[in-house]
Amino acid sequence: MKLTIDPERVLFSRDPMIYGHFLEHFDRQVYGGVYDPGNPLSDEDGFRTDVIEALKAINTPVIRWPGGCFVSAYHWKNGVGKDRVPSFDKAWRVEEPNSFGTDEFVKLCRKIGCEPYICTNAGTGTSEEMSDWVEYCNLPTEGEYAKKRIDGGNEAPYNVRYWSVGNENYLPGEMGSKTFDEWGRFVLESAKMMHRVDPSIELSAAAHADVDWCARLLKEAGKQLRWISLHDYMDPLWEVNAPAGYTACMARTTNLDDHVKKIRGLLTAFGLEKQIRIAYDEWNLRSWHHPHVNDAPIGSTEFLDARKEADDNSVYTTADAVFTGCFLNMCLKNADIVGMANYAPVVNTRGVIYTYDGGIVLRPTYHVFRMYTQLMGDTVVDGYEAEAPVKVMQDRTGKEIPVQLIDSAATIDSASGELCISLINKDPEEAQEITLRFPEAYAVRYAETLAGTNADDYNDVDRNDVVPYENTAAEGLSGQEITFTLPAHSVSVVRLNK
Ligand code: AHR
Repeated sequence: MKLTIDPERVLFSRDPMIYGHFLEHFDRQVYGGVYDPGNPLSDEDGFRTDVIEALKAINTPVIRWPGGCFVSAYHWKNGVGKDRVPSFDKAWRVEEPNSFGTDEFVKLCRKIGCEPYICTNAGTGTSEEMSDWVEYCNLPTEGEYAKKRIDGGNEAPYNVRYWSVGNENYLPGEMGSKTFDEWGRFVLESAKMMHRVDPSIELSAAAHADVDWCARLLKEAGKQLRWISLHDYMDPLWEVNAPAGYTACMARTTNLDDHVKKIRGLLTAFGLEKQIRIAYDEWNLRSWHHPHVNDAPIGSTEFLDARKEADDNSVYTTADAVFTGCFLNMCLKNADIVGMANYAPVVNTRGVIYTYDGGIVLRPTYHVFRMYTQLMGDTVVDGYEAEAPVKVMQDRTGKEIPVQLIDSAATIDSASGELCISLINKDPEEAQEITLRFPEAYAVRYAETLAGTNADDYNDVDRNDVVPYENTAAEGLSGQEITFTLPAHSVSVVRLNK
């Protein structure tokens, strides 16, 4: 394939928050994940230091919390103050100890060096409860909730900038589900109250690529929003945990920008495309697995044990890494309107990090985030492909899907002026040749590739088969045309200078 890149054709800057993450009170994401008091690897606040260091190493920009479905029946006041009383989590049907709440979340974010992003309860919660939460976090001293924060030993306000009204309230199964008739007005009233407390907060609202839902939301509450939330999981494993194989996952890399296109069109129709950006604040190739949430009898542990199937690290192969690279490329190529994206979730379940008592496993997807946050640039430039190879692959239903084998995105690191290009080869078996073409000569200064040996390779406590390596075969190549091969099932980033 030939990829022609024009570094002069600058498209837009990308917001680093497209490399964000999501943390929910589900299975071992919080308790036993980021928060593990008593573990020798945890610090004085009970946070896993190995997890914190790993998240710092991928320049984590933002973490969304506490849910997800969990939040739609969560009352934040149970999670602050000295005497935390456990509550019943109606979303996931377990007891929530409430020992990890707002103070702990903000403290975790400070240690990682990332922005906290709080999703509020628009299910069973009220507009007032949401605005009380903003008081607790952002008012210096005024009122009951700021004083409650201070009483808890947290004098300075947290200045939480990013908030969302609700999570997937469009879904009938969500606690406190709403109709599109109800949603716009509810968001408007909630946003009004939250902005009365702190006009500077940036608000999102739960949405999906549905015209009726979004039209009413934008019409009634668009003026109050700076973000609109989207969620997508491509491999549906909610009820049956049968992860799709490599080629079926590649079939799901086509049309990744479908929902972005729809929301872009709706925002443009309402004249809001310069005011509101997309927060893709939950995305992952693999959906989570939580069967029988609605019908498991009290006392049953089967449906809880099923959630732990996600701890099988052999599920997360080069397919997850390649898909993640393709999704991040989609975010880069739509960075004018996609301003935030949050991998769901960050730790355990389908996360980039798996924790166990003695340490952590960095899954292949973790390394993709490290490559992108450390090697890709901040300015997106234009490029076009020619002679792109295509292979037909079957999706998980057996439908034949033509899959473009090479996915790419071109950026410039504005600090160094270097061209930083991500090049992905989706082919399950064969290396693919790539020719980069420029208006003037460039030389490959550094190249890094993540491939494993086989498409189904993975990382675990006792194996590290999918880790990036310096691609010396590409380094040093120079000219107006540079040709080299991309290994099968691989993600590469090459950095070039003149
Ligand atoms: O499967 C996990 C759930 O997926 C999240 O809690 C929710 O936001 C999404 O539907």
